[in-house]
Amino acid sequence: MIYKDSNNHIPTATKILKVNHAGEFGAVCIYRAQIWVCTIFNRKMLPVLNDFIVDERRHLQVFDEEISRRNGVRCKSYYFCGLGGYFLGFVSSLLGTQGIKSCTFAVEHTVVSHLKEQLKYLKQVDDVHAFEAVSSILADEESHRDYGSEGLESTRLVKFLSYVVKGVTTGVIKFGMR
Ligand SMILES: [Fe+2]
Ligand SMILES: [Fe+2]
Repeated sequence: MIYKDSNNHIPTATKILKVNHAGEFGAVCIYRAQIWVCTIFNRKMLPVLNDFIVDERRHLQVFDEEISRRNGVRCKSYYFCGLGGYFLGFVSSLLGTQGIKSCTFAVEHTVVSHLKEQLKYLKQVDDVHAFEAVSSILADEESHRDYGSEGLESTRLVKFLSYVVKGVTTGVIKFGMR
């Protein structure tokens, strides 16, 4: 998706921050649900999931602060992201390690490509604070994505899950950017 100047009263940079804020809340919820399920069924996944959720909480905080400095309004998709995150987290972790990895890879892969497009736009409009906020999370998301892709098998289930997760993630971003 190419980011362009807004056609309403909310600047594109603010929309980007809001949509990322909602997305980070969704990510926290995904990892929270996966941690709950893995506490019972898949304890070997806990260390990495606990690391990831620390990153996602920091990302949430970064965008929370930047939004508060602007208009302080949350994205309309904020709670939808939370709910969707719990749903994806539960379903993926009930499918085991491959389910978790395919969910992580699909979400983070989509996120990373959006972040890169956002950075191009923010540089072009010279919004230094928004640019810094977005670039401060990029390396974490890339490492989450790479972890997801390591040892990911290309079974039908994994492909289907990736397809759904990618679709939902992209839909949420497009909805939030309206
Ligand atoms: Fe994140
Ligand atoms: Fe992430």
